Amino acid sequence: MVKLINFKWQQLILSLGCLLLIIACQSLYPTTDPDAKPLKVATDPTFVPFEFQTADGKLEGFDIDLMNALASPAAGLTLSLSKGIAKVAGFAVQFESLPFDGTISTLQAKRVDAAISGITITAERLKTIAFSRPYFKAGLAIAVREDNQNIQDFNSLKGKKIAVQIGSTGADFAKTIPNAKISTFNSGPEFFQDLLNGNVDAVISDAFATLYAIKNGKLKGIRVVADFLTQEYYGIAMPKDSPHLDAINKGIATLLSNGTYKQIYQKWFKVEPPQLPDS
Ligand code: ARG
Repeated sequence: MVKLINFKWQQLILSLGCLLLIIACQSLYPTTDPDAKPLKVATDPTFVPFEFQTADGKLEGFDIDLMNALASPAAGLTLSLSKGIAKVAGFAVQFESLPFDGTISTLQAKRVDAAISGITITAERLKTIAFSRPYFKAGLAIAVREDNQNIQDFNSLKGKKIAVQIGSTGADFAKTIPNAKISTFNSGPEFFQDLLNGNVDAVISDAFATLYAIKNGKLKGIRVVADFLTQEYYGIAMPKDSPHLDAINKGIATLLSNGTYKQIYQKWFKVEPPQLPDS
């Protein structure tokens, strides 16, 4: 009788030990909740090197890496996307291609949970949507054909033909140039083609994207004359009352402090990232 009880106690202690071990392992290596809905994230993949598609249709770029890093268990985020059982770190992301010009209205209509698309945080946009803390320091640049000598700066753009992307900060900026004739385009490759064809004198668009494309031989015959006409910051855009805003901000802070942000920055730009403001 005594022997039998002893045996049961041993078994119980052993099973409890195993259970504790399993729980410990699970919290060390958290997995994504298979029942959780993915976070739907819009992006306009025509903006090298932030978001673009490879020949076989794969999404790549700085923004894509950043979003995936935020979603990985390492960022420690739990978004309220699950059907409500287990609390697990990490979440799944479902990217949706969307023309840049439609981004704000799609967020307003809550057809997506967020957008990452090199979107500049502006006072105007903040009236209708929310932004995460800044994740990238950017600015506008003037691009001209290599042989153009008469456009040097903002003042020499007066009365010139200028191409911009519809709905972009470059388009807003172009409106401030006296007597400029502005042509609008849906995406980057199109307005640079128009510049090369001689239909316009200059393009006003994001400096990093333009400089990157020139440096990597994707834009031939074009040079930048005034980089960083403006100082801008990109943010992850969300609907105004998004339940994910705080978590995303915490995630960006984690990636900034644990070296992941720096790693992603150096992968794409080969230099040290600049300091970013908190808000
Ligand atoms: N930063 C500019 C803006 O917010 C242009 C961004 C263009 N992004 C893109 N994925 N096409 O207006």
